[in-house]
Amino acid sequence: MSDAVGDFEVTYEDFREMAEFVEEHLEDTVRKDGDRMRWYPWHSGDYRFDHTIGVVDLAEEIARGEDADVDIVRVAALFHDVAKFEVNQEKHAEEGAWIAQKYLSRHGYPESFIDDVAEVIKHHTDEMHDDMPLESKVLIEADSIDKIGVAGATLLALRVGYESRPHTDVPEMIQRVVDRGENMIDRLETETGKEIARKRTERVKLYKAWFEDEI
Ligand SMILES: [Fe+2]
Repeated sequence: MSDAVGDFEVTYEDFREMAEFVEEHLEDTVRKDGDRMRWYPWHSGDYRFDHTIGVVDLAEEIARGEDADVDIVRVAALFHDVAKFEVNQEKHAEEGAWIAQKYLSRHGYPESFIDDVAEVIKHHTDEMHDDMPLESKVLIEADSIDKIGVAGATLLALRVGYESRPHTDVPEMIQRVVDRGENMIDRLETETGKEIARKRTERVKLYKAWFEDEI
């Protein structure tokens, strides 16, 4: 990433204001016409915003562990899914980058910072490759890691209820998250990302073991 940003920083207040913008944007664009399965939390503004905040926290932790630019990473994480509801899945990264660019220029952020943030958002759905900036890798990893762990397993377990299946079917859903976590660890590139994924996967195994012990 360019280093023209200098000693500029995104303050806590600025970040909070940005988060409010993202939350409102998701609420305003969420589809209310019922043509998607609205009972799945995936398609609600609340879920998307909670996921966003989860990704921000993870991205920040990985960025600190890997010496990536923390401001670029957390702002990109905050805007990465902002366009999720208004355009097709294949277009949401590009559209999200555009929305972030407009917001950041309106608020007078340095051009090099805006370009770096937009670049990271634009490529957050790409396969990781060596030429990618570290900040892009950090966001891609954080976005995947948010789907594993005990919270990710619980989210998947909700599905059992939507399908009117008994709660005794839940361990099977939890196992999918264990498998997902184990496959993910090898594909992650950063040591910090791998470490978080390992810890989360161990917790999910315990969750499953306790569950099975009781049913
Ligand atoms: Fe995401």
